[in-house]
Amino acid sequence: MSPSKHTSSFAEISLSALKENLRQVQIQAKNTPILAIVKANAYGHGAVPITQFLSQQKDKIKMFGVAFFEEGLALRSAGIRDPILILTGCMPEQIPDMIAEELTPVVFDVQTLEAINTAAIKQEKPVKIHLKIDTGMGRLGIRPEAVRAFMLKVLSCPSVTLEGILSHFAEADLKDLSFAQKQLSKLQTILEDFADKGLNVPYCHLANSAGISQLKSAQLDCVRPGIMLYGYSPLQEAIPHKLIPIMQVKARIITLKTVPKGTPISYGRTFVTKRKSRIATVAIGYADGYPLSLSNRGMMIAKGKLVPVTGRVCMDMCMLDVSDAPPLTIGDYVTVIGSEGSTSMWAQQVASLAKTHVYEILCGIGSRVKRCYV
Ligand SMILES: Cc1ncc(COP(=O)(O)O)c(C=O)c1O
Repeated sequence: MSPSKHTSSFAEISLSALKENLRQVQIQAKNTPILAIVKANAYGHGAVPITQFLSQQKDKIKMFGVAFFEEGLALRSAGIRDPILILTGCMPEQIPDMIAEELTPVVFDVQTLEAINTAAIKQEKPVKIHLKIDTGMGRLGIRPEAVRAFMLKVLSCPSVTLEGILSHFAEADLKDLSFAQKQLSKLQTILEDFADKGLNVPYCHLANSAGISQLKSAQLDCVRPGIMLYGYSPLQEAIPHKLIPIMQVKARIITLKTVPKGTPISYGRTFVTKRKSRIATVAIGYADGYPLSLSNRGMMIAKGKLVPVTGRVCMDMCMLDVSDAPPLTIGDYVTVIGSEGSTSMWAQQVASLAKTHVYEILCGIGSRVKRCYV
């Protein structure tokens, strides 16, 4: 799909790059089954089209992961029938629909477990769950010492099957993996205890992208890549990798003008031209996910040349000093995220200028930026 003439900004998303990234994940994960993370609108790339595409790779992907029940429902409404794991579990009132739609909740409290069992009996539909254990993230999950009691409870719930056990790394992206190792061994101790008792859980999973890249022993029965699929390294230190960013974002020049030295630009007059300048006003702003923190810091690419954001980023627009760029005309697209020839401004670079991480930049791309899949 190409941008229509009505598009002020668009994101071009390469499905062939996504396929290649999936292949790279497979290589690194040594063909361990994949639970592809498509939460937060597939990290801004469009949950439905991305999941539909990945769903065709059935031999590689066993399941999809979203954060919330409503994200799972949206995928079901789009006709996606693959197993979907709801990573943050479910609220009591969501349980009947969750069972009806065959969404798989992550569970981390007895109350929810019992409510699921009761609803499953009522609906005469057995339910699979994944149990989350907090091995050090301090976010979701039962504490390791509570696992035994929880398991006894699961065994007393006839309509609930424990399909999976998971935990989540807090810092597998660092060079120092000692804490990640501790988390892994906590989980392994629990799994060994299960095995001793003859309890067979088909899917034990822990590794996010960083875990996949750095801790081969954490790959277990299944891996949960997110950021790698979208083409970015999960690691804090920039090391070469073979992933390809799958999204480029472009925005149109709304107007162009030449202004004299001393001209203030945008709210607060935080930028004043130091020379006679050519200023382009571009159709992307913080409402589209281009961070306010990039005011006087961001860079975009205009006709192959890196150009600076001047003045404060507005809600719908920002201004570029294009004095040193090749001639431009109104309606031309500039590259906000992506590359032109050998000049690049990928989300990682945008994130570094904005002093944030790449996840926030990708997930933040707003709904006005039309997604086009190629
Ligand atoms: C529970 C869980 N698993 C896996 C992932 C994927 O992480 P990443 O994008 O770093 O691969 C996330 C993302 O935050 C997550 O919350």
